[in-house]
Amino acid sequence: MCTHRTTEGRYGAGMSILAQSWDTVAAGYARYWVPRFRPWVLHTVDALGPLPPGPIAVPCCGTGAELSVLADRHPERELVGIDLSAGMIEVARQTAAPNVRFIVGDASTLPGTWAAVVSCFGLQQLPNPAAALSRWCQALSPGGRLAVAVWTADIQDEGPYDALRAPTQELFGTRSSDWNARLHNAVQAHATVVSDALVPYSITHAGPLEFWRAMVSDGPWQPRLVRYPEKTAALRETFLDTWPPGAFSHRPHARVLVADAP
Ligand SMILES: C[S@@+](CC[C@H](N)C(=O)[O-])C[C@H]1O[C@@H](n2cnc3c(N)ncnc32)[C@H](O)[C@@H]1O
Repeated sequence: MCTHRTTEGRYGAGMSILAQSWDTVAAGYARYWVPRFRPWVLHTVDALGPLPPGPIAVPCCGTGAELSVLADRHPERELVGIDLSAGMIEVARQTAAPNVRFIVGDASTLPGTWAAVVSCFGLQQLPNPAAALSRWCQALSPGGRLAVAVWTADIQDEGPYDALRAPTQELFGTRSSDWNARLHNAVQAHATVVSDALVPYSITHAGPLEFWRAMVSDGPWQPRLVRYPEKTAALRETFLDTWPPGAFSHRPHARVLVADAP
């Protein structure tokens, strides 16, 4: 069992709930989502070309999806995973290569100097994604490379995320997506953008109930369940009433940003 080192005193209430929610879903996330998100993780890690000497940072490393691919490709380098959730890191440790070490903490301010910074699907959870991305670029050593995949409002999959958007906004209000428009400039202020593209791959689910459970019990909507159980139950009813039964596939787009330090 993991211990909740992430107290309100250390992080503030919002981040503390986020950390504890990821602790709760860690094993389920590794089982359900990591294999489904693997194509984006490979795409992002493959964006690293030749690198200068030095370690590679993986902010928001979760259960170690990027780290396991990086360990195969860079067995000689130090790899450092940073995550808010001790529970996610505990799962990552179970299969980590000897050249991987972990830090439990907020990855927004990344100390140190890194040959590369690689991160999938954590940036959108940070309080200020553009500021964090800017910091990650500044932490690159000369000639170092940033490769980051992020879920944005452009997820455009004509699938369950699109179907849930309007009822979610109605129940929970809209989180401003201004930060998405600021990412490019945040990178360009400190690095040269090599590519910035929406990258689609297919995901398959056994049915709407399996999808819902995976989002709430094994994934990113756990904090919403903790904070707003009644509204989350209402959203569940709406989704299960409207989404047809049976297995389905969809093609979400992740935004993948690649940049080089001068
Ligand atoms: C969707 S998971 C992605 C995990 C992993 N990168 C992957 O692709 O499988 C998001 C991760 O971001 C972490 N996270 C959220 N906010 C964070 C923060 N401020 N600092 C560090 N990690 C954070 C969560 O704990 C969670 O493990």
